[in-house]
Amino acid sequence: MHSIRRKLDESLSYIKAEAENKQPQVGLVLGSGLGPLGNEISKASIIDYKNIPYFPVSTVEGHAGKLIIGNLEGKEVIACQGRFHYYEGYDLTEVTYPIRIMQALGVHTLIVTNAAGGINKSFKPGDIMLIEDHINLLGSNPLRGKNEPELGPRFPDMTEAYAKELKNLATKAANELGITLKKGVYAAFSGPSYETPAEIRFLRLVGADSVGMSTVPEVIVANHANIKVLGISCITNMASGVLDRKLSHDEVVDTANKVQASFIKLVKKIIALLP
Ligand code: HPA
Repeated sequence: MHSIRRKLDESLSYIKAEAENKQPQVGLVLGSGLGPLGNEISKASIIDYKNIPYFPVSTVEGHAGKLIIGNLEGKEVIACQGRFHYYEGYDLTEVTYPIRIMQALGVHTLIVTNAAGGINKSFKPGDIMLIEDHINLLGSNPLRGKNEPELGPRFPDMTEAYAKELKNLATKAANELGITLKKGVYAAFSGPSYETPAEIRFLRLVGADSVGMSTVPEVIVANHANIKVLGISCITNMASGVLDRKLSHDEVVDTANKVQASFIKLVKKIIALLP
């Protein structure tokens, strides 16, 4: 069994060679519907996940598996076009492996996006929600197991898991674009089944505004890695039991596609405004 450090070194030497030693500062995890933003990265080195030693390979429909390193809005970025979910069967070390790669490359800011169900009754499908904080209900933690002090502390603080200055920047970007930015707490369940109405009532009681099956592991590891995080959800549907109708993956994909253009505009504006 190779240690994470050895695996990272091997992945990294492949990535650095392919990316001609580019030094990205900003990481992007492109969730459902936001993948096309990756195609707007210029002077890009595009690397298939499957060619990177020790990199997991994504299996979800609509999630390409590419690492794109290049320039976006004047910043050097590294984007994950396609993410790994716990429900696919990966362990959380695999789910968060791309964040470790970003850490090793020197990324200091991470923007994570996802599709989520709306729990807050003032939300509607198509809304964009700034993630103010999260609740981890995955039943595990990506930092479980031996800690590598080189990668971060044993007990990382999560008081500002989503950086205040980045929330302010996102609010400013949305205002400048005339995009309404909802705000709230994101809760993660492991999935892949959608939640029951009782689970959604439970989540509302404990203070969640949206629910999804991703993001939290990446955000925990980014905090461990001392990377500042901004999280944005596309509310693709109202969560189970909020409306008198069933949920479907098709609805999630449909809404994500409809919101795609303004979501992409917002993320680009945020990147442009980054110091
Ligand atoms: N629940 C969980 N994950 C989701 C949802 C939902 O309602 N919508 C999009 N991802």
